[in-house]
Amino acid sequence: MKITIIGSGYVGLTTGACFAEVGHHVVCVDNDARKVESLIAGQIPIYEPGLESLVKKNVASRRLSFTTSTEEGVNHGEVLFIAVPTPPQPDGSVDLSFIEKVAREIAQYLDSYRVIVDKSTVPVKTGERVTQTIRRYAKPGVEFDVVSNPEFLREGSAVEDLMKPDRIVIGGNSDRALAIMQKAYEPFVAPVLVTDINSAELIKHAANSFLALKISYINAISEICEATGADVQKVADGIGMDKRIGRSFLSAGLGYGGSCFPKDIAAFIAISEQLGVPFNLLKEVQSINQRQIDRFVALIREALWVLKEKKLAVWGLSFKPNTDDVRSSVAISLVEQLAEEGADVLAFDPKGMEKAKQLPIASKIRFADSALEAATGAEALIIATEWPEFAAVDLAALRDVMRTPLIFDGRNLIDPVAAANFGFQYRGIGRGILSERP
Ligand code: UDX
Repeated sequence: MKITIIGSGYVGLTTGACFAEVGHHVVCVDNDARKVESLIAGQIPIYEPGLESLVKKNVASRRLSFTTSTEEGVNHGEVLFIAVPTPPQPDGSVDLSFIEKVAREIAQYLDSYRVIVDKSTVPVKTGERVTQTIRRYAKPGVEFDVVSNPEFLREGSAVEDLMKPDRIVIGGNSDRALAIMQKAYEPFVAPVLVTDINSAELIKHAANSFLALKISYINAISEICEATGADVQKVADGIGMDKRIGRSFLSAGLGYGGSCFPKDIAAFIAISEQLGVPFNLLKEVQSINQRQIDRFVALIREALWVLKEKKLAVWGLSFKPNTDDVRSSVAISLVEQLAEEGADVLAFDPKGMEKAKQLPIASKIRFADSALEAATGAEALIIATEWPEFAAVDLAALRDVMRTPLIFDGRNLIDPVAAANFGFQYRGIGRGILSERP
C-alpha cells in the first residue's frame, strides 16, 4: 500500500519506518530541507533504539523515501498521515497552526480520494476542523475522509511500541476510510478499536493523563511514606500486584517530564475548560509533579546546608533512560535550580549530552565524560534519570572517588541497604526508614 507521512519528527519518522518495514511503500515529507537531506544520507536526528537500522534497511529496499514536497507526498499516498508538531501555547492550550497549514496544503494538491489521518496528538474536535479546512480549500467535488489514529509510542521503545502495539485506535465515520485504515494496519498483530473521531482524539489525552495521574498518585504516597518511615517501593509492589491496578507507572521519583505528559495534561485541562467542564483533578496531578522536584531540592539543601560552591555530580539529563531527548526533562529543571543557587554542577548522561549542551543551562554547568568522572571529588551525587548503567555502578569505586559519600537518588535506583553498607549516606524518594540509616 502507498502511504505518506507529513512531518518526519519522532512520531512521523518512526511510524514511516515501521510501515515500510511491514511492506508498505512510504514517503516521509518534512519542510526542513537539511533534515530531509540527512535522512536521505542515512543520518537519524534522534537517538531511538532500533530506528537507524530500520530506516537504513527500508531506504535501501526502496520502500522508504524522503522529500520536502507536500505535493509529491499527496500524489503518492492513498493514506496521508499528519504527524506535525502540536506545541503548547503559554496558556497550556495547543498551537494547531502546523496542522491547519498542512490541511490547507493537502487540500491544494488533492485530486482524487485520500484518507487523511491525524496522527499528532490533538485536542478533541480537531478532526472536524481539519475536515472543514480541507473542504474549504480543496477543488469542488474532490473526495476525502478524515480519520483520527492516535499514537501511543514511548520514546526509548518507539519501534517496539509501533511494531507490537497494545491496541490500534481508529476513529472515523466513513466505512470506506475505515476499511483502508484496517488494510494499512493488517500486518500488525494487535486489537483494533474503531470509534468515532472525537472518541479517538479523547482516548489519547485521557490515556496520557491517566498515566500521569498514576505517577502523581505514587509520588503523593511517597510523601506520606517519608512522613511515616514506610517504603514507597514496597507500597507500589503491594498495590501493583492487584491486577486491576498494575505495577507499571507506579515508580515514585522526581516526577514526569518529556515532550508529551506535561504538554498533554496542560492541553487537556485547557480543553476541558473551553468545553465548560473543568477537569480539576488534573491540576492536582500537575501540582504534585511540581512538588516532587521542589521537595527534592529542599532535601538536598537541608542536607548540604548551603549549595553555593558545592561540587555536585548529577547523573542523568535526558527526561528518561534510552533516549537523548532533554525536552521538558525534570533532570534539566533540577540542574537549573542547583546552578541557580551557585552549585558547581558536573553532569553526565549516556546519550543526552549533545542535546543538553545546546540548552541555555550549558553555560552554567560542566559536563563529564563518564559517570565516575562526574562523581570524582563530588560532595554529593544526585541521580536524576534512571539509566541502567547508573544502577550497575560499582559502589566501592564510587565511594573512593567522591569527596563525601552522599547520594540523593531521585529515581530510587540504588539499593539503600547496599549504599549504607558501602558507607554512603543515602536519600531516596519515599524511603523513610531506609534513608535514615547512616
Ligand atoms: C508517553 C506515553 O507513555 C506514550 O504512550 C505517549 O505516546 C507519549 O507519552 P514518553 O513521554 O515517551 O511516552 O515516556 P514515558 O515512558 O511514558 O515516561 C514519561 C515520564 O514519566 C518520564 O519522565 C518518566 O521518567 C516518568 N515516569 C514514568 C515516572 O516518573 N514514573 C513511572 O512509573 C513511569
